[in-house]
Amino acid sequence: MNDILIQNTTAFFEKSFGTSPEKTVLSPGRINIIGEHIDYNDGYVLPAAIDKIICFAFGKKNSKTSKVIAIDLNEEFEIDLTQEVKLSDVVWTNYIRGVIKQLQDNGFSFEGFNCVFSSNIPVGSGLSSSAALECGMIFGIKSLFDLKLEKKDIALLGQKAEHWVGINCGIMDQFSSVHGLENKVIQLDCNTLDFEYHNADFKDYSLILFDSNVKHSLFTSEYNTRRIECEEGLSIIKSHFPEVKSFRDATEEQVLSLKDKFSGKVFSRVHFVVKEINRVIKACKALDAGNIELLGELLFETHYGLSQEYEVSCEELDMLVDTAKEDETIVGSRLMGGGFGGCTINLVKKGHENEVKRKFSKLYLDTFGIELKFYDVKISNGTTLL
Ligand code: GLA
Repeated sequence: MNDILIQNTTAFFEKSFGTSPEKTVLSPGRINIIGEHIDYNDGYVLPAAIDKIICFAFGKKNSKTSKVIAIDLNEEFEIDLTQEVKLSDVVWTNYIRGVIKQLQDNGFSFEGFNCVFSSNIPVGSGLSSSAALECGMIFGIKSLFDLKLEKKDIALLGQKAEHWVGINCGIMDQFSSVHGLENKVIQLDCNTLDFEYHNADFKDYSLILFDSNVKHSLFTSEYNTRRIECEEGLSIIKSHFPEVKSFRDATEEQVLSLKDKFSGKVFSRVHFVVKEINRVIKACKALDAGNIELLGELLFETHYGLSQEYEVSCEELDMLVDTAKEDETIVGSRLMGGGFGGCTINLVKKGHENEVKRKFSKLYLDTFGIELKFYDVKISNGTTLL
């Protein structure tokens, strides 16, 4: 599937600019096994890059402007690299503007370029197509102009570009898009950015994403609100327990002992965060030990927390997970990514994949009148040059 994407992107570049691309970059989307809304709370996460990618073709332009064509949208834009970069009403262009701005603001100089790109990462499904776009662009510009950027720098600049566009996201998406490795999940310490690869061996179970095909508009505002609530919660914990420097130092007992000190929803947010940090550690051990049933139970627990305590779920995702819980061929399921729509991640007993897909499709269509989509995920390499 990716071969066709690469051929089409290259051919489009040739047709548009009359020459072959100098660099071709592949930049993947990501999944996350567990550790949700934890990256910006200094915990651990367990993501991986997948075989859904954006393909970019790049060439130098010998001018001070750059031209970028989004094949799938049938749209293009030009940007003058000598002018101050500003946000535009055309949302997709902002990720690219953001990347250019971050590179320039951090002292990297480069000339004009031509770029065309095309993607098979579904947009709005929680698979981080925006991180793939940011990191792939940075990788391409770096390769074209020989900029001195390590993988970690690419991820951090990509994250800054996303902040500039308006989501105050953590580092997970960009980091995993850049650092992905075939058949490995990444245990990332979001505080230090140290990381370790673990085998993505789910034994008798297949990893399948169910795409709810909904994206509720609450996402950006609620995401940014959760960050603020967590910052407020952490400052209360710190004021009572000065030894606590970040959420990972706080215990559940400490949080429970302060229950009446938190206002509004802050207690449930903080309670979720502290428990989720511990779940990631348990989940890594379960995965290493091949105990996929335990891993699955942890996924269900995470979903409960995301739905009831962190409140980033929606009725479509809750229905999918509740149904999965009743199904004896599914050992684990939860909403994945920021929430308010997108995918659930599921561990389905091998040999039962088709039957599960048929059952969920019908039920979902009957309940919501919406088609459920499925992605059989292959864990793959991070951003690379072809
Ligand atoms: C989005 C953000 C990530 C992370 C997840 C939730 O994908 O971009 O940084 O916070 O939500 O885990």
